Amino acid sequence: MGQKTRRIVLKRYIEGVPSPDDFEIVDHELPDLADGRFLVRNILLSVDPGTRARLSGQASYVPPLKLGEMVGAFSVGEVIESRHPDYVPGDIVSLAEGWAEHLVSKGRGFIRRITDRRLPLSPWLGVLGVSGMTAWFGLRRVGGLKSGQTVVVTSAAGAVGSAAGQIARLEGCRVIGVAGGLEKCRWLVDEAGFDHAIDYRSMDVAAAVAEAAPDGVDILFDNVGNEMIDAVIPSMNLNGVIVVSGQVAAYNQVDPPGLQNTRAFITHRLKMQGLVVFDDLPWDDAERAMAEHVLAGEIVWRDEIGEGLESIPEAFAGLFRGENRGRRLARLAPDPFEPEAKR
Ligand SMILES: NC(=O)c1ccc[n+]([C@@H]2O[C@H](COP(=O)([O-])OP(=O)(O)OC[C@H]3O[C@@H](n4cnc5c(N)ncnc54)[C@H](OP(=O)(O)O)[C@@H]3O)[C@@H](O)[C@H]2O)c1
Repeated sequence: MGQKTRRIVLKRYIEGVPSPDDFEIVDHELPDLADGRFLVRNILLSVDPGTRARLSGQASYVPPLKLGEMVGAFSVGEVIESRHPDYVPGDIVSLAEGWAEHLVSKGRGFIRRITDRRLPLSPWLGVLGVSGMTAWFGLRRVGGLKSGQTVVVTSAAGAVGSAAGQIARLEGCRVIGVAGGLEKCRWLVDEAGFDHAIDYRSMDVAAAVAEAAPDGVDILFDNVGNEMIDAVIPSMNLNGVIVVSGQVAAYNQVDPPGLQNTRAFITHRLKMQGLVVFDDLPWDDAERAMAEHVLAGEIVWRDEIGEGLESIPEAFAGLFRGENRGRRLARLAPDPFEPEAKR
């Protein structure tokens, strides 16, 4: 008999803002472990806004989810049984399979083995995982980050945004973050070392960016969508680069707004380019560099950890109300990399 487990499936296609009732926790029996596969008991599951893109029944760069299918997600877990030559019980891996207590992997696709025990596992789903790598490759490969530039980051207090701002600061850039609410803005300046933070809920972003960046903006790292990009374009410098990382404001809109300020692409020779961070695999050098910055206290991160699968539907819906402070996670088992006293 295969491993009995529980997982979260899509109960109905989502229109507009997600609600916890869009999901259902169901019992599931995994198939017997075939040759070339390994069984993972998940320890932490990630709750990311990007998941929303597959939940409306519409195609994105990955196929849409069907009703009753497990919702895709990143996780870290422990291999507990293996018939795969490269993985043995006890290995800690990060996977992109889904919101489930146990998973079977075929050993293909996104799998990162985590061996650095100097940090707990949670940052490997945030600042050292997909979020941090999106910031790293988005700024460096796509943005062409250089010392002395002025960089604006939107959804700056999120896992991707806060990593992006800190990478730019360490490179010697002036960093301006755009985020919702005073608490997030204070955290960005006081803890994450941003030079300036703009609360888009109470301020006009275009005017605030123009004031905070009198010499113009060289890179916009956008996680939000076209309205935010339009607000920053008038401040962009000649040859400025807009890095399209995410579109969190657009994920719930049927008809998201188009860009208005496109003339500046000609007058200011602007460039706009998106990324899918998996194109930059393997991430080994970037992961190592980020881990050293984190261990040295040069890059900080925040996460919010709920208990069990049950915490996920509400945690996910809350992302679109701006409730999260950094990466949201669900804990399913104690973290073997945490010091004993904290377990
Ligand atoms: N390109 C890639 O390969 C790649 C990989 C991973 C992630 N991403 C993208 O990176 C972005 C950031 O991801 P993350 O995991 O760090 O999540 P995140 O930034 O924490 O996303 C949630 C936050 O988005 C903001 N938000 C939600 N609805 C909004 C709206 N309507 N308008 C403006 N802001 C809104 C809220 O912050 P405020 O309170 O500040 O508004 C909320 O706390 C996402 O768009 C994600 O899809 C891209």
